[in-house]
Amino acid sequence: MLYNRAVDASSLASALAGLALGPLRYLPSAGSTNQVAMDWALEGAPDLALVAAGEQTSGRGRLGRRWYTPAGTALAFSLVLRGGSQDLHHPARLTHLGALAVCQALREHYRLPAQVKGPNDVLVEGKKLCGVLAEAVWQDQALLAVVIGIGVNVSAGSIPRHLPLAFPATCLEAETGFPVERPKLLRQILESLLRWRAELDSPAFLQRLEDCLALRDQPVRILRPGQPELEGVIAGLDSDGALRLRLAGGEGAAVQFGEVHLRAVDRTPD
Ligand code: BTN
Repeated sequence: MLYNRAVDASSLASALAGLALGPLRYLPSAGSTNQVAMDWALEGAPDLALVAAGEQTSGRGRLGRRWYTPAGTALAFSLVLRGGSQDLHHPARLTHLGALAVCQALREHYRLPAQVKGPNDVLVEGKKLCGVLAEAVWQDQALLAVVIGIGVNVSAGSIPRHLPLAFPATCLEAETGFPVERPKLLRQILESLLRWRAELDSPAFLQRLEDCLALRDQPVRILRPGQPELEGVIAGLDSDGALRLRLAGGEGAAVQFGEVHLRAVDRTPD
């Protein structure tokens, strides 16, 4: 069947033809594509080298969590970014780049009301459909590269049913109601990522991210390791990308996304 055909290196390569990417490594099964890409970066992988896997056996998420990628159900890929000073000055913003790229691709090509929940989730109708994990690659105390890993739930099998989830989850096929071709989806996301990467430093990037922000004007609780909990309403983003909050007393606060947990106040915290 057209949509559910198996993905392999050559179907991926032809779906990605013409994109300004580095070399592609497709692995039917990998531990973690982020780990493969980080090792490859240390061995000299060039900028925009791409690792994609049909399944991950030890995929990782933020805050030491596991990320499930059962065979043939999802997109799991990692991109090596080592293009120059611009990227490496903004490793935190690269998480946003990944999330914005997915959000825009879902809006443009699937007409879904996708939103970015800082720092690294893409939600549809309040349910998580994608997670992004950016990891730095160091060599001799110098930042060599940043790897952006993106996991997108495509079919129902990508959502772990046997585990308690930190957040409600969904998948692309449940939201669209039709089967999705994974190589095509990968191309759509990468096109969006390449477009927004060129704008990382521009006000347009933050403006678009702000337009996509989940929980805007809603009361949220912000949990930050080692710091007091904050409760307020999300007012938007500051010019440096920090989350702008209106606190209960009316005063404002800026919170860097970094290691925050962001929850609507009526949801159970992590
Ligand atoms: C999160 O939501 O906690 C982030 C999840 C990131 C998952 C992706 S899947 C591809 C890449 N490889 C990994 O091991 N993790 C990322």
